[in-house]
Amino acid sequence: MGVNGVPPDQGRRPAGNRRMLVAGALSAIGLLAAPALTAPADAAAGTLGAAAAQSGRYFGAAVAAGHLNDSTYVATWDREFNQVTAENEMKWTSTEPNRNQFTFGSADQIANHAFSKGMKVRGHTLVWHAQIPTWLNNLSATDLRAAMVNHINGVMGHYKGKIYSWDVVNEAFNDGGAVGTLRSSIWTQKLGNGFIEEAFRAARAADPAAKLCYNDYNIDDANASKTRGVYNMVKDFKARGVPIDCVGLQSHFGNPPANYQANIQQFADLGVDVQITELDIGGGGSTQADAYRRVTQACVNVPRCAGITVWGITDKWSWRSGDTPLLFDGN
Ligand code: G3I
Repeated sequence: MGVNGVPPDQGRRPAGNRRMLVAGALSAIGLLAAPALTAPADAAAGTLGAAAAQSGRYFGAAVAAGHLNDSTYVATWDREFNQVTAENEMKWTSTEPNRNQFTFGSADQIANHAFSKGMKVRGHTLVWHAQIPTWLNNLSATDLRAAMVNHINGVMGHYKGKIYSWDVVNEAFNDGGAVGTLRSSIWTQKLGNGFIEEAFRAARAADPAAKLCYNDYNIDDANASKTRGVYNMVKDFKARGVPIDCVGLQSHFGNPPANYQANIQQFADLGVDVQITELDIGGGGSTQADAYRRVTQACVNVPRCAGITVWGITDKWSWRSGDTPLLFDGN
């Protein structure tokens, strides 16, 4: 297993060949009409975003500001996708590198482009253990709590009323241990497990129009203990009136688990939306294409699955580019 439990590469095919297979797989469920293939009669939409919009969903991608000078990259983004997530630019190190000094230069480059095209924007991410500035490290609990709320207010306030959904807390659960174990971080160490609830309450107050998501990886299997922990938290939040609107399944994997649709459904049954937030699938050929088809079909089959975001546009700039995990090759 690689980073984040991602299985190692499962073998390769030439990239062009792979893309045709993926296009064929998505076309078969009416999500993409691949020109070289016979499209089903109901697949009128010719792009991922337009096809998703036919059922009120979105199909988005993570975009990095550093690549916006690549015209092919931007043209592909504009043509295929109707939602965007900034890959790094809305994280704490980017938006508040020094205490109470907010900077939105590269985040705004992505967000303003998306707004001008009518795309949905997912905000990623407010409270995480990674990509946080060092000035947080030596604060007292009282001060850290104030800094967390101030960060939520500052970033959500900047985009108030314009963001579709925010990843309020990212990757807080541990990969091992008993069900419900949180990852040890400055947040748990200084604020205790209640930091998640505090963050969600602050986020609702900061921008009541945004959907508030809990986002994590390795919560794709309905029965995995990490999934059970997140499920129990969402159930508890709903029972106690703690604001939460969505669960983000990052879905960095080699294959969706057999119960992937059941997993989406069990979260939906708690009264939250499910968003597939960082999809990328290692491998190649028909196995990879079929995995994309199964993920997409699972989302289409659950009314509360709001949409899919792939974690990048082209393999060449993927965080796991060696796995050629995305829908477009380096060309
Ligand atoms: O921008 C600096 C550059 O100035 C510097 O020279 C260079 C040297 O290392 O680093 C650059 O920053 C890198 C940044 O990506 C932008 O390229 C960071 O080192 C690198 O750590 C960072 O990686 C990002 C990673 O999150 C950080 O944890 C990946 O791009 C991004 O795809 C990845 O995304 C995460 C999600 O946020 C959460 N879920 C998992 C997912 C994949 O790991």
